Amino acid sequence: MTGAMAQTKLNIVLCGFMGCGKSTVGKKLSQMTQMEFVDMDGYIEKRAGMKIPDIFEKHGEGFFRDLEHEAAVELSQRGGYVVATGGGALTFQRNVDAFKEGGVIVLLDTPLRVLQLRLKNDRNRPLLQRPDRFRFIRELHQKRMPLYRRAADVVIPTKGSPNAVCRQVLQALEEKNLTNS
Ligand code: S3P
Repeated sequence: MTGAMAQTKLNIVLCGFMGCGKSTVGKKLSQMTQMEFVDMDGYIEKRAGMKIPDIFEKHGEGFFRDLEHEAAVELSQRGGYVVATGGGALTFQRNVDAFKEGGVIVLLDTPLRVLQLRLKNDRNRPLLQRPDRFRFIRELHQKRMPLYRRAADVVIPTKGSPNAVCRQVLQALEEKNLTNS
């Protein structure tokens, strides 16, 4: 399966809430499939020459969302990448449309409680720098999950190790014939 995935021209686009493991799983998946890994936030930072918190602070969220959309369009025009999207990216239909063009969208579904714990002390995500963080995460998660589910071709609950999650992703894509091979 690994060899077959390596030849695919599709992007594997990982989607899900902040802290669900998109980058960790994405890096492993990239090793397993020999597809190149791209972290969308890192891509945006490089293009903008600024860190995400600075983009939010200096230019506002709307500006970040536009950069994010440009990144979605650019990345979706190239094939064969494992893309870890930012947690808000696939809540916008314009980004879903772009990524659907040449890719399969995989939702990593991590329980809310786990996300809350992982994000408890985060200092890098602008949206979370607020006193009611726990409640905010719960409400945003509730709002976003239906959007993620609507965007996703497959949904993988993130139980077990990153390796186990990667194997489930590859199996699910193969079962759905979403491999281009
Ligand atoms: C965001 C998630 C972040 C980053 C930005 C906004 C969001 O990415 O894109 O802070 O709206 O959920 P991660 O999901 O990688 O944390």
